[in-house]
Amino acid sequence: MLHPGGSAAAEIAWLTWFLIAVCGGVFVAVMALTAAAVWRRSETADAGESAESAADSESRKPPPASPVSPLGAGFIIVAGAVIPALILTVILVLSVKAQVALAPPESDITIRVVGHQFWWEVEYPETGIVTANELIIPAGEPVRLELSAADVIHSLWAPNLNGKTDLLPDKVNIAWLESDSPGVYRAQCAEYCGVQHALMALRIVALPRDEYDAWSETSQASDPEPATEPQRRGRDVYFRTGCHNCHAIAHTAATGRRGPDLTHFGSRLTIAAGVVPNTPENLREWIANPQGMKPGNLMPHTELTRDELDALVDYLMSLD
Ligand code: CUA
Repeated sequence: MLHPGGSAAAEIAWLTWFLIAVCGGVFVAVMALTAAAVWRRSETADAGESAESAADSESRKPPPASPVSPLGAGFIIVAGAVIPALILTVILVLSVKAQVALAPPESDITIRVVGHQFWWEVEYPETGIVTANELIIPAGEPVRLELSAADVIHSLWAPNLNGKTDLLPDKVNIAWLESDSPGVYRAQCAEYCGVQHALMALRIVALPRDEYDAWSETSQASDPEPATEPQRRGRDVYFRTGCHNCHAIAHTAATGRRGPDLTHFGSRLTIAAGVVPNTPENLREWIANPQGMKPGNLMPHTELTRDELDALVDYLMSLD
């Protein structure tokens, strides 16, 4: 969050540094005054002790009350009330100003993001594109996000791009993101949502506008027909073993929505919401034993022969 990649994050980072500087300054000043008070107190005590030993015990009297502060009562009013009031007022004004700057701006693109245990569903209502665990946005323009949840409360946090916004089961929250330049940013679920909360990551990929348009175009096209025999067998395995009941692939009979949509799966960067890079080896391991890689996730174990697994991986990687 201290390396902002967009205007919203820059606003937050600036305010963060300002607060750290002000609070740091106040801390140092208070500690210095405390040290001075302790020093002065021990000096007075030393003086008192030596005076006592010289005098008779019968003339022992309480020491004279010391003044409230050697700097006078005015210092207490200024340092204890006026300066804190001024500092808090400045912080309040700057915080409200930042809050106003963080309000969602006008945007041409709206994306729906639904939080699931423990993955992200991403839908582009204007084009009908559905994907998962990856948010493709055009760089240099604000994108409006409609956030909700399918089960429990989640929270979307892309530290380089904006602050956190919760995803609630019964309400749509509006958030927005803008990336100054193309790049890949990591977002993370920021509200404890269950055993795999920590492994609920979202990749935000900001593309130059023309590449974004090209991506949008390709993503609306259907995945290619299986080109090889193993891929065709893989597709059979996909439908025979019931993968399609949870994982949709656009333009096919696979319409399940319980798990991540797998249309154009081969072009994804990661598997299992950011747990491992999307490679055939990792995909094989994931399907063979989903609970080994991400214990507690909702993907069931599917009994497959080695051949079936190879064919299924082949088919899924061909979806690009
Ligand atoms: Cu989803 Cu934490």
